[in-house]
Amino acid sequence: MANLTIRKLDDAVRDELRLRAARNGRSVEDEVRVILGEVVAGQPFEVPPAAPAPRPQAAVASANGLARVTLIIGGGIAAYKALDLIRRLKERQIHVRCVLTKAAQQFVTPLAASALSHERVYTDLFDPESEFDAGHIRLARECDLIVVAPATADLIAKMAHGHADDLASATLLAANRPILLAPAMNPLMWNNAATRRNVLQLRRDGILTVGPNAGEMAEAGEAGVGRMAEPTEIAAAAEHILRPPHPRPLQGKRVLITAGPTHEAIDPVRYIANRSSGKQGFAIAAAARDAGAEVVLVSGPVDLADPSGVSVISVESARDMLHRVEAALPVDVAIFAAAVADWRVANEGEQKLKKTAAGVPALQLVENPDILATIAKLENNRPPLVIGFAAETEHLIENAKAKIARKGCDWIVANDVSPATGVMGGDRNTVHLLTREGEDISVDSWPVMTKEQVATELVARIAKAVETKS
Ligand code: C5P
Repeated sequence: MANLTIRKLDDAVRDELRLRAARNGRSVEDEVRVILGEVVAGQPFEVPPAAPAPRPQAAVASANGLARVTLIIGGGIAAYKALDLIRRLKERQIHVRCVLTKAAQQFVTPLAASALSHERVYTDLFDPESEFDAGHIRLARECDLIVVAPATADLIAKMAHGHADDLASATLLAANRPILLAPAMNPLMWNNAATRRNVLQLRRDGILTVGPNAGEMAEAGEAGVGRMAEPTEIAAAAEHILRPPHPRPLQGKRVLITAGPTHEAIDPVRYIANRSSGKQGFAIAAAARDAGAEVVLVSGPVDLADPSGVSVISVESARDMLHRVEAALPVDVAIFAAAVADWRVANEGEQKLKKTAAGVPALQLVENPDILATIAKLENNRPPLVIGFAAETEHLIENAKAKIARKGCDWIVANDVSPATGVMGGDRNTVHLLTREGEDISVDSWPVMTKEQVATELVARIAKAVETKS
């Protein structure tokens, strides 16, 4: 098989190729495969399914929060299985609204589809009741996914050519949601060059398919590829699109995070604190949980709801925080996002301090334990990846570099917390990630992001580092 070096192509050809690939949402290499597939007539289905052309996916939230499917039932013998598909979708907590083509009504009745979906069924493009407010547009948009089952050769041909002369085809043409086809037809129709061209075109347009499977046909003695996928397969494919499984790169890993300020008591009612909101640490905890980690979040006093699925330990002072952090070891990753008070009052009052004639009380401060440095310098049980934060108001990178060395951690997330940045208590953060490899420290500066985005990016970097280490 000859290898083609894209760099050696004529400039104009290369530019055109890049443009075509970008337009179709494919890599240049895949685009070349598609073009070659087109040239080698008769092989269109061997072409690797191109990355679907991007389709707008924004969903309109339904009142009850269920995912919603508009199910278009085409006219083929497999239509009877579409009734079972309604049940399989509903079992998966998916709300279903059906459109039946005229041909479909030769096989199943609107009444049966309505009884199973518990919804009104739509059949007519010119139905005055549903079209007074452009019903086909609503059917196309008020859902999260459109499933066509069975997708007949005729419906596929209409879609490929942009026809809109009945409710089903008009709905499909007006759609801005993902579309999943479950083709079903006689093997000769499926293998017909016209159908193959049409399916290839639809795949390029970003339309998804499930099946058809090989097997016996309704027609006596006929077998081959063309049987509609089973309702359970179609429902599973629909659910996969509606609720894509999250990658869980931190599955099986234990992650410890500190967050928020600490409160250092002066007396039973007064304390020293700082302006940390805890938002960044909480966002990291949620992102680590979403990545599959078992998360322990040791937090100072904050005004935030506990993230679900995270074990939250609430503390007040730096010393409490250190004890709870030590008790949570061993962990695979420890992230110290808390704004721990550097000092506490040495002579904490047992009773509320009073104004006296003797004048203003003198508060003597002593240094708090440095939790990050303590854990980073442990001989036993040191987490394999220890990450600190450096909130600075000047000489950000310089100070962060010094901190990474002084505290003995592996990474530092440095951010400028000067009042003008609005970072303290705000929702956005501009951070620089410093990573240490032996004596070398690299700095990666990230653009302004929300604290959730910073968390997601940081967790992605952690997942990569954990994978490399193991
Ligand atoms: O020294 P500084 O407060 O700037 O250090 C910031 C980093 O050290 C943060 O990761 C913070 O959570 C951690 N730290 C700590 N214990 C302290 C002080 C800071 O864990 N007493």
